[in-house]
Parts: sequence; structure tokens; C-alpha cells
Amino acid sequence: MSFQPFDLEAYQSRWERTVEMNLADSSVQCLTTRDWLSNDEQQQVLDTGLFYPEVNGTALLRERIAALYPRATPAHVLVTVGAAQANSMICQALLEPGDEVVVMSPGYRQVWGLARNAGCTVRELPLDPHNDWRADLGVLDQVVNSRTKLVAVVNPNNPTGSIFTDAEMQRIVAACARVGAWLHADEVYAGTEHGRAAETPSFFGRYDRLVCTNSLSKAYGLAGLRLGWIVSSPEMIEELWRRHEYAVIAASAPSMTMAEIALLPEKRRWLFDRQKRLTRDGHAVLADWLAQQDGRFSLVPSHATAIAFVKSHLALDSLTLADRIRIEGNVLVAPGSLMGAEHHLRVTVGYPAEKVKKALARIGEVAKKLSLD
Ligand SMILES: Cc1ncc(COP(=O)(O)O)c(C=O)c1O
Repeated sequence: MSFQPFDLEAYQSRWERTVEMNLADSSVQCLTTRDWLSNDEQQQVLDTGLFYPEVNGTALLRERIAALYPRATPAHVLVTVGAAQANSMICQALLEPGDEVVVMSPGYRQVWGLARNAGCTVRELPLDPHNDWRADLGVLDQVVNSRTKLVAVVNPNNPTGSIFTDAEMQRIVAACARVGAWLHADEVYAGTEHGRAAETPSFFGRYDRLVCTNSLSKAYGLAGLRLGWIVSSPEMIEELWRRHEYAVIAASAPSMTMAEIALLPEKRRWLFDRQKRLTRDGHAVLADWLAQQDGRFSLVPSHATAIAFVKSHLALDSLTLADRIRIEGNVLVAPGSLMGAEHHLRVTVGYPAEKVKKALARIGEVAKKLSLD
């Protein structure tokens, strides 16, 4: 069986350092250590011992993570190297050749690719652009069957920014429960809501065969710490911990010290507020720009994330269009085809407004030279 690369990440890692402006990433403008830590907190980081830290995550960090979930304890938590490692280990632990896996489409195709590489059949839960990118849960009921090992959702979703309602969450749990499938909820965009005040609730506590993942990369703007976590039953955490020892042994000690600080309620609020400001301002700049594009682009506005999943009405496939924007505009955006939706571009707007304006103007100039579909 041939290896399925992670095409979106491959596109980003190949090109992101070659352009003047990168709007292909999915975090907001990330912070430097100096930006968000007081002098005392910086001292705390400098004083962190550099022996191997607690392999499953420091007790204090697991306690602070557990406090974010209803009825979770530190035994329900494993600290990982980003949600990326968490998601990867979950697939490694659960999937066997011949299993079926359901993922959202369009989507962040990490589980999609991992499942294919594990010899599984991947089925898709479509999100409907004509219905606010809501999931078609009628399809979910059809595709979930006795061979379904895992249903993997990303809530809020990357790249559409849609959020499940409470009733939709219940329906997803019911579909899994009907066949005893595992549910994996990747919740890295919880806290990035810009259309409403309420934070997206976790799936945690709604089902027993459940693994939830999250990280400091998106809502906190701290992607470089490479710090994530899994919350699940203590039994499943033990299973994953055994795989964690093979993969990385432990997350980094200074990153765990910084994560302990980031999860202090006041600090967390400050980080979220900053991220939401960048997200809201960026989406406003994008809306102004879209209004001037003479029908070349359109958008179903997102409810969360600093991502805009922009539809292109140009007569080019998304990879060719993104390449032209990269080469002629010196701006990187992500082609929608790498997330399962042709004729879309993923454009991240959570940067200082001047940068977003300048990058969008460049995209507009490239698009002007192209004919409409
Ligand atoms: C849905 C989703 N899950 C996981 C990740 C990986 O995040 P992390 O930086 O925590 O490894 C990303 C990054 O783009 C993502 O969009």
C-alpha cells in the first residue's frame, strides 16, 4: 500500500518560508515568550529543570487541563506534543486494517490520511456550503455501520469555522453509540468563536468511548510550544501513554511550565481576548476586501477560527490558483483541494490588519489578471 502524505501540511512546510506573507497557517499571529509572561513568569521558565519531565505531563498541568472539563481528573489527561501527536497516537491505538473511519469534509485531513495509511476505509460526513456549512447528519446515519471503528470530528471545524449545535452533538454521539464506535473530537478551535460569546463546549462527558484533543496552538496563539493534550477515560489514557513513550517520551519541560501559566484563568482569558481581537479584526478586513472583488470570490462566513474558507469563481483549480498567488503575489494561501473542497482557498486573517490588507491586495491583483469561470 502506498503512503498517503499529509498534503496540506506538506504544501505549507514546502512553501511557507519562501513567501513574504503567509496566510496559509491556521493560528493567529503567535506570541513571543516576552509578550505574554511577566518578569516573574519568565523567571519561572528559566528555572525549569531540563531533566526528562513527567512523561504523561506534570501533575500541575494535568490538574489545570482537567479543570477545563466537567468531572475530569488528572488521570483523564495525557500531555502531548501538540494535538498533532495526540491525533496520531489515537489513530495508532484504535485503527486496524479493514476498519471504517468517518471524517468531516471539507476538513483538516490528518485523521483522513492516518486512517488510509492504517489500511482503513474512509467515509466522509459532508458539510453543506448552502446550509451555513452545517454537517449533513442524515449522511452520518447512513455511513456509520458495524465496521465503523472511529468517527472523527473537528469542532469548531477547520476550514469552515462551523460549530455543532447541542442537538447535533447528541446526534453524533447517538450514531457512535448505535454501533459502539469510538468518537474522536478535535477541539483545538474551541475558544476562537467570533460570531458569539459562548465557548464551544467539549464532547467530554457525553459518551464513554470518547477521546478529546486540544492544544495551545490556536485559541491561545502559542503554536511554537508544541503543547497539546488528550482527555479520555483513565484506561484509554494508559493505552495512549504506552504509545507516547515510544513516540516522544514526553513533551518539553519549558513548554509544560508555560502551559501551566497559560491555563491560569486570568492568563487564559487574556490570551483568548487577544486571539479573538485579531480574529474579529481580520475577518472585518476580509469582508471589506471581498466587497471589492467583483464576484471573483465569495464566502460563507465562519462562526469560529481566524480562517476564511473563500470560494473562488475563477477558471482555475485551487492548487494552480494558490501557486499563482504564491509566485506572482509572494503570499501563501492553502488550496481547498487539500481539504476536500475544490475552488476554495483557506485564507487565515488573524494577523495585524496592515499585513492582512497588504496580502489581500496582492491576492486581488493576481485574481484581476484571471478570467471568471
Ligand atoms: C483541526 C486541527 N487539529 C490539529 C492540528 C494540529 O495542531 P497542533 O499545533 O496542536 O499540533 C491542527 C493544525 O492546524 C488543526 O487544524
